Amino acid sequence: MSCNLKGKIGIVGSGLIGRSWAMLFASVGYKVVIYDIEQSQVTNALDDIKNQLSILEKNKLLRGTLNAEQQFKCISGSNDLSKCVAGAIFVQECTPENIELKKKVFANLDAAVTSNETILSSSTSTFMPSLFSETLKHRNQVIVCHPVNPPYYVPLVEIVPAPWTDAAVAKKSRAIMEEIGQAPVSLSREVPGFSLNRIQYVILNEVWHQVKEGILDVADVDRVMSEGLGMRYAFMGPWETAHLNAEGMTNYFERYSKTIYDVSVTMGEVPKMEGPTAVEIAKQLEQKVPLNKLQERRIWRDLCLTKLSQLKNEVNK
Ligand code: NAI
Repeated sequence: MSCNLKGKIGIVGSGLIGRSWAMLFASVGYKVVIYDIEQSQVTNALDDIKNQLSILEKNKLLRGTLNAEQQFKCISGSNDLSKCVAGAIFVQECTPENIELKKKVFANLDAAVTSNETILSSSTSTFMPSLFSETLKHRNQVIVCHPVNPPYYVPLVEIVPAPWTDAAVAKKSRAIMEEIGQAPVSLSREVPGFSLNRIQYVILNEVWHQVKEGILDVADVDRVMSEGLGMRYAFMGPWETAHLNAEGMTNYFERYSKTIYDVSVTMGEVPKMEGPTAVEIAKQLEQKVPLNKLQERRIWRDLCLTKLSQLKNEVNK
């Protein structure tokens, strides 16, 4: 398969996430053009991607049907935003998480884009798309496709429209995400934190209270997730888990609705996450993983995610 057949993708920002997106799009044969404000970043990104693809191939972890060399040939760099965007069917913005910068970058994209068909997508983890697209001429082409790190192994992508995003843009973004092998979810409208972070913050609020009240220490509360809930949640979500934990979901509601309500009303208020409890939690975590060992531990985490993703692919076959 030739890259030119699939169409062109623009990547704006060539850091950690931009590089991952480039590899994902190239894995199915899209022609990818990476732009960065720092030319040296583009050069570094291309070197890094070449190296990553060859390691993935050696370890039999390369995605798609093209070999590493063919995938790498699909990716090029540019120091000209308009060249990156021209003729692209989809542009993925991956610049640092700063709202003023996102506004500036999207204003530049708005000026550079020449087609009313090009989708202008942001990787932002936290900013609702309305915050940086309201005044743009092409605002109905703007959407958020929020990946999860590391995207090569964690396939979720949250697709979040602004109030003015064309429905067709959301639909096409989802189809493209499916095509590159990611697992998209489509929010009907924007909400702060999208879905993943809203759920993550509910969990963080509760584990904060459990440590603050001295019910469990940090290591044990983490174990509740890693050796308990997390084991199931790697394969199915909370709804299906509940469905299987009774004779179906209606039966689960009959059995447990009252208990869930009675326990839930004992939960503490939304904490500010500062003060002595914050200091204590950080202290316990640093005893387990000292700050100078974070990178080592991240490598271990990514290895675990790689193996989990292989297992999931196997069981889902
Ligand atoms: P990063 O800091 O690694 O890379 C950002 C890149 O953008 C750098 O290469 C920088 O030179 C470039 N850049 C800065 N200003 C620019 C401009 N005006 N035009 C073009 N390029 C410019 O950032 P990272 O981690 O890749 O994050 C990118 C986006 O992805 C952020 O919005 C972040 O919230 C989101 N994201 C990050 C995740 C993570 O775990 N790192 C996970 C999910 C989303």
